[in-house]
Amino acid sequence: MNPATPTLEAYRPARHFAARDTWLNDPNGLVFLDGTYHLYFQNNPYGNVHGNLSWGHATSTDLVDWVEQPVAIRCDETEEIFSGSIVVDQENTSGLGAAGTAPLVALYTSAYRPASEHQGTQAQSVAWSADGGYTWTKYAGNPVLTRNSPEFRDPKVFRYEGPAGSYWVMAAVEALDFAVLLYRSDNLLDWTYLSTFGPANGTGGVWECPDLFELPVDGNPERTKWVLTVNMNPGGPNGGSAGQYFVGHFDGTRFSSETTVTEGLQDDSRLADYHWLDWGRDYYAAVSFSNVPAGRRLMIGWMNNWQYANRIPTAPWRSPMSLVRDVWLTEIAGQPRLVQAIAPEVTAGAVAAARTEVAVAGSVAVDGGTPVQLLHVTFTPESADVFGIVVRGTADGTAGTRISIRPGAGSLVLDRTLSGDTGFDPSFASASTAPILPGPDGTYSFRIFVDHCSVEVFGQDGLVSMTELIFPDPAHSTISLFADGGTAGASLQLWDVA
Ligand code: FRU
Repeated sequence: MNPATPTLEAYRPARHFAARDTWLNDPNGLVFLDGTYHLYFQNNPYGNVHGNLSWGHATSTDLVDWVEQPVAIRCDETEEIFSGSIVVDQENTSGLGAAGTAPLVALYTSAYRPASEHQGTQAQSVAWSADGGYTWTKYAGNPVLTRNSPEFRDPKVFRYEGPAGSYWVMAAVEALDFAVLLYRSDNLLDWTYLSTFGPANGTGGVWECPDLFELPVDGNPERTKWVLTVNMNPGGPNGGSAGQYFVGHFDGTRFSSETTVTEGLQDDSRLADYHWLDWGRDYYAAVSFSNVPAGRRLMIGWMNNWQYANRIPTAPWRSPMSLVRDVWLTEIAGQPRLVQAIAPEVTAGAVAAARTEVAVAGSVAVDGGTPVQLLHVTFTPESADVFGIVVRGTADGTAGTRISIRPGAGSLVLDRTLSGDTGFDPSFASASTAPILPGPDGTYSFRIFVDHCSVEVFGQDGLVSMTELIFPDPAHSTISLFADGGTAGASLQLWDVA
C-alpha cells in the first residue's frame, strides 16, 4: 500500500465517497435496504490504478458519511468482477435465500482471465448475500448468461411490474455494437432475450453501464415514461467518457425512444443535439439505486474520465464518486427531459456564510471561507458579453476554475485551465461547453457544489449539469464574480459545507 502523502491526501473530498487507499471506478450494485444505502464500486483491492477488478463496498445512512466495508466480491485467478447491479429478491424467486427470506442478488460481469475455461469472454454471473450485503457467495452455476462475446457486460436488473406481467428485466451492453440488450427472467438465473436498442445518438465510443427506469412526468403518477441511460467512452460532448439518455416507452419487451436524434452509426457532428446526463468531463458510468422508497430515483456517477483516470494526482486513493443526485422528468416544449439536483441530504446542515447582491463590472472577489461550498448564483444579463463566477481562485485572478455564460452563444463554459495541478495529463487542462438558456425571467441561475477536488454545476433548473475534477492549491478559496465587456447583475448565496 502507498504511504499517505499529506499534499495529495488534501484532495480527499468532504462530501463525496472515495476509497480509503485504493483505486475506484464505476458505482455498482447501488441498493437501499432497511435504512442503509449500499454503494459497491469497481475496486482494485491491491493498488490505486485500474486492475484486479473486484467489488468494493461502502455504506451510509444519510448519503453523506460513507463507511468503507470489507471488499464484497473479490477477483480470483479465473475472473475479474466487472460492473453490475443488485436487487432485493423479495419473494426469493432465485431460491438462493433460506426459506422465507429475501436474499440480495448481485448480477455482475465475469471478465474471464486466461486461467478460466471461458477465457476471452465477458458473461453475466450471480452472487448472493444473506446478511444484508456484507458477505457474498458466488453462484455455482455461473455464468448465468453468456453470448461467448468478449464485450458483453454491465447488467442492470430491475423488477418489471406492468401490463406485460411481473418479472425481472436485465439491461446489458454489447459494447462494441453500441447496443443495449434486454433479457427477462423469473428467477434471476435463467434469462431469455427480449430485444436490442441501438445504435442511436452518440456512438463515438463503446457503450457501457446502461440503466432503464420508469419516472412520472412532472410528478404525475398517471403519466410515466421510461428513461434509458447509457454511458459511452470515448466520444463524450467534451471529450472522453460521458453518459447519454433516451426517454420513451418500455412495453415489457422493447424500449422505444422518443428522443432519438440520429439512428445508426454517426460521426460526431450532432453531439450538441444529444441528451447528456452531464456535459462535464467527469461524470461517468452513472447508474441508479434500486429499492429506494417513495418512487425516488437516486443516481451516482464515477467522477473521472478514462482519458486520464489512472493519472489524477491523488494518493493513496484514486477517484471519487459524484454527489448523490435526485433525477426526475419534465417536459420542455413537449419534449421529455431529465432533470437533476443534488440530493437534499447532501447539503443538509450547511451553514449560510454570506450573501452578496452586486452589479458586476470587471471582477468582484468574495472571501470563499472554507473550500467546500454550496453556491446559489443568479446572473441578470446587462451589457456584458460574458459573465460568470470563478471558484477555488485567488484574489489576484491568476488561479481558479472559471464558469462563464455567453448569452449570445447560448453557452455555459467550465474552464479548468488555471484550476491548479493540470500537468499530469495533456488532455486535462480544458474548457468544456454546454448549451444553456435563461429562465423565463431572463436570468441564469446555478447551483454549484465545490469540494476539495471537484466542481458540480447545475443550471437551467437542473436541465444542464457539468461535473469536473480540479486539483487546486488547498489554500485557494476565493470566489469572484466577473463581467467582461460591460456589466451584469449577480446575486450570490454561499454556504460553508465542511
Ligand atoms: C466502465 C467499465 C465497464 C466495466 C468496468 C470495468 O467504466 O469499462 O464497462 O464493467 O468499467 O472496470
